[in-house]
Amino acid sequence: MLETNSQKVYVNGQFFSKKEASISVFDRGFLFSDSVYEVSAVIGGDLVDWQEHFARLIRSMDKLNLVNNFQEEDFYKIQKKLIKENELNEGLCYVQVTRGVAERDFNFATNSLSPTVVIFTQEKLILSNPASKKGIKIITVPDDRWRRRDIKTTQLLAQSLAKTYAIQKGVDDSLLVQDGFINECSSSNVFIIKEKNIITPNLSNDILGGITRSSLIKFCKKNNIEIKEQKISVDDMMGAQEVFLTSSTGFVLPVIDIDGRQVGNGLVGDKVKEIQRIYIEQIKSKLS
Ligand code: PDD
Repeated sequence: MLETNSQKVYVNGQFFSKKEASISVFDRGFLFSDSVYEVSAVIGGDLVDWQEHFARLIRSMDKLNLVNNFQEEDFYKIQKKLIKENELNEGLCYVQVTRGVAERDFNFATNSLSPTVVIFTQEKLILSNPASKKGIKIITVPDDRWRRRDIKTTQLLAQSLAKTYAIQKGVDDSLLVQDGFINECSSSNVFIIKEKNIITPNLSNDILGGITRSSLIKFCKKNNIEIKEQKISVDDMMGAQEVFLTSSTGFVLPVIDIDGRQVGNGLVGDKVKEIQRIYIEQIKSKLS
C-alpha cells in the first residue's frame, strides 16, 4: 500500500493525489446527501463480488433517478486501475456517486445534471481482523433512519450516531431496532442461530440487501445449510445461541454480547466458525 498522501483518488474521469482531489461545494451530495455509494472488499488486489456491487449501485441510482451513463466494463477497469496504482492488497474500494453540481434547490428535476463520481481506496485487514476470531459486543438502539434503507445512500448520520454511541458505551456497534424487531447493525446485516435454525431478517425497505448477506445465503445453501429469512424480535434474538453480522468490511463477525448479556456461553460458537470458514473458502475460490 502506498503511503496515504501519495494515494490516488478518482474524480470524474481523472486520477488525483488524495490532497488534490476535490469536488464543488455546490455538489448535491454535500448539500442534500443526494448521493449513493458502494463499498467492495479487496482481497489480493481483487474486488470481491464486484458484479453484485455494481448491480446494487445501478439499482440505488435508478431508485433516486440519478443519471446513469456508466459502462460496466469501464467502471471495473477504473476500480482495478486505482487499486493497482494505490498498491492495495487488502482493504476496501469505495464508489460515491452524487446527482452532481447545481444551484441549491430542493427541486432537482429542472437542473440538467451530470453525476459526480468519486472512487477511493482504504487499507484494512479483513481476513485477519481480530474481531472475526474474538467476536464483538453490541447494544440495541432505536432505528432512527429514513424509511428507504434498501437504497444505499450516503445519508449515514443515524448510523454514524448509533456507532459512535456504541463506542462511547464501551461496545463495538449498535443494532437498530424498530417496533420490537431487529433490522440490522449500523453497517452490517444480522443473523441469529436459535434451536438449530439460522435466521436473518427478510428483505424489505427496512434493511439494506447486503451483498455479503446474499452471497452467504447462497454459499450456505451449496453446503446444505438452510438460512431462513423472516422477522426477528428482540426477545427471539436474546434467546439465540449464536449471533453474527455480515458486511463487505468485516465479512462474518461473531457477536458475543448484546446489551451486556452474553450470547450463548459468551464465546464464538461452532456454527459461526463453520459459516466463516465456508464464506472465506467460497470467496477465495470465486476470486481465483
Ligand atoms: N455497509 N446494512 C447496512 C446498513 C450497511 O451499511 C451495510 C454495508 C450492510 C452490509 O452490506 P454489504 O454486505 O453489501 O457490505 C448492511 C458498508 C460496509 C459501509 O457503509 O461501510
